[in-house]
Amino acid sequence: MSMVKPVVSPRVLLLCSMFVSACGPPPGAEVVARLACANAGIGCPPPEPEPELPEQWSGSCRYVNRFSDGTECRDYLGPWEASAATEDCSTEQGTFSTTERCDSINATGWCVINKDSATPVRVAFVGGTCTENRRGCEVFGGGYFMERGACGPGEPQPEEVLTAPFPEPVQSCVDPLPGDAPGQGEGGKVCQAITMQGCTEPGRAWEDYGSCDIPRQQRPYYPVGLHENAERDDSRLNDATYAAELAWVKQELTACSCFCCHSERSPQGPGNWYLEQRGNFINGMFDTGIAQGAGIIDSTVLGNIPASENNGFTRLPSVFPSTNPSRMQAFFRAEFMYRGLRDEDFTGLVKYGPLSEQWNYEPTSCTNGEGVTQDGSMTWQGGSARIVMVLEAGARNPLVPPNLDTPDGTVWRLDATQPSTRLLASGLRFGESPAGSAQHFPAAGAPSSLVPGTQYYLYVLADYVQPITRCLFTY
Ligand code: HEC
Repeated sequence: MSMVKPVVSPRVLLLCSMFVSACGPPPGAEVVARLACANAGIGCPPPEPEPELPEQWSGSCRYVNRFSDGTECRDYLGPWEASAATEDCSTEQGTFSTTERCDSINATGWCVINKDSATPVRVAFVGGTCTENRRGCEVFGGGYFMERGACGPGEPQPEEVLTAPFPEPVQSCVDPLPGDAPGQGEGGKVCQAITMQGCTEPGRAWEDYGSCDIPRQQRPYYPVGLHENAERDDSRLNDATYAAELAWVKQELTACSCFCCHSERSPQGPGNWYLEQRGNFINGMFDTGIAQGAGIIDSTVLGNIPASENNGFTRLPSVFPSTNPSRMQAFFRAEFMYRGLRDEDFTGLVKYGPLSEQWNYEPTSCTNGEGVTQDGSMTWQGGSARIVMVLEAGARNPLVPPNLDTPDGTVWRLDATQPSTRLLASGLRFGESPAGSAQHFPAAGAPSSLVPGTQYYLYVLADYVQPITRCLFTY
């Protein structure tokens, strides 16, 4: 009896592309066509009638799929010889049973392998989403996907959970500390945007009024050492004008969430420069940091908050938020000159990894039925989503909140209401908000209708900065 191929989940598409032998032959045109349907939603009718499976049951095998890390359970149907079934199970390093059937599990779909043979195998998926498991079954396992358990008709699709979702900015208003002056907010409260780039009122400290929980989850945080000789004696500190300007820079940054990872109190140590450093703290910065402060390396992709919503602080061209951006830039421009650096060594330097890559991404045409059809149904690849957007062709690529995530030219944006979930499934309808989601743009009312014959940009994200589909389609 031939061994049954393992069912590879699309979670390991990447693994597959590296170890092609693990994945079996590429899917045929018929499977690709079926997938377009599968991607349009769970209720998609099976293109072939469901196979009639033998009633006889010869045992089961529980195991962890070594490609997907997902738990699976397979029933051996028909007259399997005990030795063949146990041998198949041992290749999966599973536990063979002649008493516990897999069909008692509330599976996320079943996958029938060798459906036309007298001894088919029926795999019950545990976990994953219906769309993923269907794709794993049909594309990689060459099997027949049966909509059972949590993937049965009418069942809500299980949510995909993001383990470290990108947190949305929140607004906080707190009472002034005892002895501090009343704040500018209602009832004398001190208000601030809790996010990267967020700042409390000038002269106050982020440590006293802000919070680091959100900013620390919005970009990678890890300790990085200082520039060489950072703590040296710096004679410029004896120059009253210079010292006053440096004190102003430090006070401005003390008011902002930069404190969270740029302080001696950052839990794993500062990410390079830090406010309390002995001597002149900007000596701890590398030349690239100074070039960002001077606006020579463009830091637009990090996002920004307008001064009117950030206690008067804003950034750009300097990377550092301040109540006076040109003064901040001039300070770092002077430092840039002092270090003898040259513009041409920094201009055009791509500094921000995936942010820069996504900002400059040039979309190509949609394939595999991705896009919005005349009846409004939307199709994308890559699993479920936290954010779904339709933009005018030529709009900027969406990036981070609060100013780059809904660019000009956005026609419609839908978000999952819980940031930790990716429950927006391909197949939803343009302009409609299924349960668990909320329209983000436009703020109220229906989006502008799509114009037939016009090209649009479909941008679907598993999370901020994690696009899963980016392509142009003609409506
Ligand atoms: C969540 C942690 C975190 C927060 C919050 C944070 N940073 Fe950083 N920052 C880092 C880390 C880590 C590094 C180390 C090097 C790197 O990854 O670029 C760094 C490095 C830098 C550098 C030096 C980069 C270079 O190329 O030399 C600058 C400038 C900088 N941050 C500015 C800011 C500003 C301005 C803020 C506030 C608006 C801020 N950071 C907030 C984590 C953070």
